[in-house]
Amino acid sequence: MLSTAIKAAHRAGKILKEYFNKSYKIESKDVISNLVTEVDKKAEEVIFRTIKKDYPTHNLLSEEFGALDKDSDVKWIIDPLDGTINYAHSIPICCISIGVEIRGKIIYGVIYNPFGKELFTSEKGKGSYLNGKKITVSKVSNIGKALLVTGFPYMTSKYNQIPAKIFIEFVSRDIPIRRLGSASLDLCYTACGKFDGFWEYNLNPWDVAAGYLILKEAGGKITNFGNRRYSIYEKEILATNGLIHNQMQKIIESVIRKVF
Ligand code: IPD
Ligand code: CA
Ligand code: CA
Repeated sequence: MLSTAIKAAHRAGKILKEYFNKSYKIESKDVISNLVTEVDKKAEEVIFRTIKKDYPTHNLLSEEFGALDKDSDVKWIIDPLDGTINYAHSIPICCISIGVEIRGKIIYGVIYNPFGKELFTSEKGKGSYLNGKKITVSKVSNIGKALLVTGFPYMTSKYNQIPAKIFIEFVSRDIPIRRLGSASLDLCYTACGKFDGFWEYNLNPWDVAAGYLILKEAGGKITNFGNRRYSIYEKEILATNGLIHNQMQKIIESVIRKVF
């Protein structure tokens, strides 16, 4: 299944490169800023075709298509283009994310950034790799020395401004933070030690399925904001190198306590 996921990601990556910086159809989804392009759909089609050819009886869950349920124990969870807003503005920070869940556990994860030529792969119990080389999380244990990354939901205003308030709490402690615009790459870059911690509110399973495994297998820790067991189907994610996890979690919790 890992080789099928890699094959599908490479094929979709070709499409992302072919249309990059060219003209294609762009539409808004539920909110005006939440975009879907013709390229998202073309990439999704080629991924579906590749998976269905090798595994015609498996379930699929993909951002643009939705769920295809065939009553299988195996579910492929796909984001054909993570970082659509970047892509639509010709910013080459985006990727394809494919995770495979078997009986409720993520067993394989593939994230491919065709512009940076970065292929992140993972199989449960076997570690995580970037272009075939094993990766591990960073060793930074003091949040004051950390580089963090986050993202914001399309409707931050809807959530009592909590995502913005958490961001303010970290930056006002003079901690450097980046906002790349691709949650899957945020997780991969935390997995390979470029970032020390990542948090976000209101992600979907296709944003995190593959990245969850890649980070865990690289030695990272993932919980929800309450420091409890995380599921890719829930909205809050705190993903770190493990060493700064409690420090980040306490700061996030203190903000939420002030709001409610
Ligand atoms: C988005 C990106 C972004 C995150 C958004 C996601 P999309 O995915 O991962 O970093 O902040 O919440 O929806 O829409 O580009 O696939
Ligand atoms: Ca996404
Ligand atoms: Ca997407």
